[in-house]
Amino acid sequence: MSDQRRNSEITVKPLGYALGAEVLGVDTSAPPAPDTVSAVNALWHEHHVIAFRGERLEPQDITAFAGAFGPLDDHASTPFYRHQDFPELLQVTNREIGGKPSETRNTGRNWHSDYAYTSHPAAASMLYCDTRPPVGGDTMFANMVRAYDTLSPKMREILDGLDAVYDISLTAGFGQRDPQQTAETRRLNPSIAHPAVRTHPDSGKRALYVSERVSHFHGMTIAESKPLIDFLCAHATRPDNVYRHQWAEGDLVCWDNRTTMHLALTDFDQTQPRHMLRATLLGGQSGFIVE
Ligand code: SIN
Repeated sequence: MSDQRRNSEITVKPLGYALGAEVLGVDTSAPPAPDTVSAVNALWHEHHVIAFRGERLEPQDITAFAGAFGPLDDHASTPFYRHQDFPELLQVTNREIGGKPSETRNTGRNWHSDYAYTSHPAAASMLYCDTRPPVGGDTMFANMVRAYDTLSPKMREILDGLDAVYDISLTAGFGQRDPQQTAETRRLNPSIAHPAVRTHPDSGKRALYVSERVSHFHGMTIAESKPLIDFLCAHATRPDNVYRHQWAEGDLVCWDNRTTMHLALTDFDQTQPRHMLRATLLGGQSGFIVE
C-alpha cells in the first residue's frame, strides 16, 4: 500500500452538457489511495464519463490504477482480443497482431454497453489512448439515465417490465472477423436477456439498458421489437444527450457501462495507427440465457 498516491486537490472540468468531465489532480501512474478512489467514484457517478489527461502510462500502470476501482475482467469472453501479457487489458487496435491486421480494429462500431452480450455485463471501462490518428478516431457517449428520465411515464412503465435480448453476432463487423474465432466467441456467449432498465447499485439511478446490439425484447418478435429498439436508440443518442471525445495520446477515459452507451467512430484514415488499451471493471452475474 506504500506506493499508493494521495492527491492533494481533485478538481473537475465539465466536458459535455449531458455527461462527461475531466478530472484534474489525480496521478494515474500509481494505484490511488482509498480516499482518492471514493472522491473519483463520486465524480464518476455524477458525470458518468470521466477523463484523466496527459499522462503516459504502461500496461501495468493502467491495470494497477483501474484495479483500485474494483476487480478487473480477464476478458475470457473474448479471449482472442486481449493483450497477450496482460489479460486484464483488451486491445482495440489497428496494428498488426501475429502478422495479420488485428481483429479488434473495428471494435465498438455500433452503440453499445461493454459486455452486455455476456452473463456478467461490464460495470465500467477505462480506455487508454496510446496512439491516435492525426485526425478523428473519436468516441461518442450517451447518457442512459437522462435517456430514461426523458421518456414518458407510460413508456418507462412498459420498459420497466421488459427484458432485452443481446446477441454478440449483432456486434458491427462481427461477421467479417475470423470465422473460427467468431464461432468460438459465439459459443462462449449465447444470446442473453437483461432487464431493459437497470438500477445503478451505488447511485440508485435508473438507466435505460437497450442498445444497437439488442436483437429483440424477450417474449416479443423481432418485427415487434425493432421499431421500439430503433426509437430508443435514436432517443438516447440525440445530440443533446451525447458527449463526443476527441482523443489525445495519454488520455484515460472511463465510462460507467450501467449508465452510458458508446460508439467508436470511423472518422479517420484507417491506414493511420490507432492503438488503445481497455481495462474492464467486472460487473455482477446477470440475465438469463435465451435459446
Ligand atoms: C470500445 O467500444 O470499448 C472501444 C471504443 C473505442 O475504441 O473508441
